[in-house]
Amino acid sequence: MSVGRALNLIFLGPPGAGKGTQANLIAKKYGIPQVSTGEILRSAVKEQTPMGQQAAQYMADGLLVPDCVVVGIVGERLMASDCVSGFILDGFPRTVAQADSLSELLEKLGKSVGFVISFEIVKDVLLERITGRRMCRGCGRGYHVVFDPPKSPGSCDECGGDLYQREDDKEETIQKRLDVYEEQTAPLKEYYKNHSLLKSVNGLGSIDEIQKSIVAILES
Ligand code: AP5
Repeated sequence: MSVGRALNLIFLGPPGAGKGTQANLIAKKYGIPQVSTGEILRSAVKEQTPMGQQAAQYMADGLLVPDCVVVGIVGERLMASDCVSGFILDGFPRTVAQADSLSELLEKLGKSVGFVISFEIVKDVLLERITGRRMCRGCGRGYHVVFDPPKSPGSCDECGGDLYQREDDKEETIQKRLDVYEEQTAPLKEYYKNHSLLKSVNGLGSIDEIQKSIVAILES
């Protein structure tokens, strides 16, 4: 489906808000790539690339990977040909410095952000969602043991890969990630509000209901 213009989107929200789940659905619906810095970094850690080795400890501790690393990743990714009709940035930017770098980068590429979708949600729900999350080792798709279970327990509906629990989804690390979000990422809501790009969606509700709210914004 097309909305007649490039869909350059940012999904913003705390850990467990549903950014990845919705980015996956919206990306498929509109035929644009989901650019998840978390997924790119997890693959680099798994492959033990130099970037992965640099990022691993930050991620395990629930801290942000340095801006220069993630800005480089996104810069390279947005130049790929599949980003011509749009992209969903899932988990980037996460600091004001990253947001400034992104606008410089997009300006150089002759692109701009269409919407920043902010997922509004309460902490208790986040904990419930994160602790029940399972990820596919093969394609990176996320599931939830209760709210979004795979058809066959332990294996991915899409590629048959094994499902696992993320290293940083342990309760002690989750609290750190939530604190880091409040301190370093939540200020981006004001930043993008000031740029008249911010649209809020209620992150509570079913996956389908939330998808419909996002589609309504994109097609407004
Ligand atoms: P990242 O992978 O981006 O993690 P995050 O932002 O903490 O977000 P999550 O993946 O935890 O949550 P989500 O909002 O995508 O929720 P999901 O859809 O999975 O980053 C990981 C780490 O990488 C960071 O801590 C950092 O170290 C590093 N990093 C990444 N980007 C960086 C950057 N830009 N700068 C610096 N460092 C960076 O949903 C959660 C669960 O809930 C799932 O199980 C899902 O099935 C379920 N669910 C989803 N929606 C619903 C619903 N409506 N109802 C019920 N259940 C639902």
